[in-house]
Amino acid sequence: MESFLDHLECTGCGRTFNADQIHTVCEECNKVLFARYNLPAARNSMKRDLSGRAKTMWRYRELLPVRTESNIVSLGEGMTPLLRAERLGKVYGFHRLFIKDEGLNPTGSFKARGMSAAVSRAKELGIVKIAVPSAGNAAGALAAYGAAAGIETSVCMPADAPQINQVESAVCGSRVYLVDGLITHAATIVAHASAGSGWFDISTLREPYRLEGKKTLGFELAEQLDWQLPDVIIYPTGGGTGMIGMWKAFEELEQLGWIGNQRPKIISVQAAGCAPIVRAWQQDKAYSEPWTGAQTIAAGLRVPRAFADYLILQVIRGSGGVAIAVTDEEILQSIRETARLEGIFMCPEGAATIAAFKRLTNCGLLRPEQSVVLFNTAAGLKYSQLIRLQCPRIDPSDEIEL
Ligand SMILES: Cc1ncc(COP(=O)(O)O)c(C=O)c1O
Ligand SMILES: [Zn+2]
Repeated sequence: MESFLDHLECTGCGRTFNADQIHTVCEECNKVLFARYNLPAARNSMKRDLSGRAKTMWRYRELLPVRTESNIVSLGEGMTPLLRAERLGKVYGFHRLFIKDEGLNPTGSFKARGMSAAVSRAKELGIVKIAVPSAGNAAGALAAYGAAAGIETSVCMPADAPQINQVESAVCGSRVYLVDGLITHAATIVAHASAGSGWFDISTLREPYRLEGKKTLGFELAEQLDWQLPDVIIYPTGGGTGMIGMWKAFEELEQLGWIGNQRPKIISVQAAGCAPIVRAWQQDKAYSEPWTGAQTIAAGLRVPRAFADYLILQVIRGSGGVAIAVTDEEILQSIRETARLEGIFMCPEGAATIAAFKRLTNCGLLRPEQSVVLFNTAAGLKYSQLIRLQCPRIDPSDEIEL
């Protein structure tokens, strides 16, 4: 099996670049570069029946950017379960409500997909030192995949990023820097430190290949639903790679002839304390303004300005979707509700999609006959500090009434 990777293309000016050289953003206009594949050739050689292939995201190998098999750095990412949320669905009258549980990935979040693809490709292109600014989970994932690849890593995250993200990065041997600020400050620090120093800055959408890993979310969803896309996808949005990646996946699948031209509405969810995309969507703007005073318990959504905001807004609008903000209280309440009804302990970002689902259902924007997929982007186990416990303490000799 070979990759059909062909070239890189700028999402701003359309300029193309050689995919076998190291690139970050467009040299002409500083916008995001997309990896492009020879899809007509892929269409001739690939079959939609992928049974028998690896149960990881690398089952879509031809549409991923690594040329030589031995460069693939995999910890078993992808092919996460698409769970039917029957009991939750019943409460709101939905028969086809699903949760794609990304918490089952290595390092407990969907960031594993992006880092598996990007670190593999970096290895292939001869990169030996990688740095990333992160809200937390991307740092943990880079540290793990870097370790597996034998590539040195440095991560920079806000000092109030979840402690588990700091620990998981450090234990894998990454140099961990904690900044008294936001991810945007971490990004500036990493950009300065990596310029001309031999460190490769693998920031969200400032290199083309993390997106390629994230796009497998879309491939899997299509495959798991027998190549019938759902009516609605609800996704938590920070830097936007998840939804931009899925949208790209659907375009590629259509060009392969594996799906038709029907697309789900993409609903972008942010936190009320940091909602630059929601504001830009409401104001009908093509770009977002930086959000001041960003604050939310959903660390992955504490992104005051996404570099690829214009692509996120294009996806929401192109799909006929909406952008919506939910409060931290709604998020906490949704964590408990989903855990109790479905046995799924969601991360706050994932629970934000439940909160959005409830709001949109209440106001009639979602209808019970629609099929709806929510994304739990990380394991709630990584956020246990958010849940307050009130358990009675008892002696071994005590008796209890159940
Ligand atoms: C658990 C979780 N969910 C969602 C997001 C936001 O993802 P994206 O940056 O792809 O929009 C993040 C980003 O850090 C995250 O860690
Ligand atoms: Zn350009």
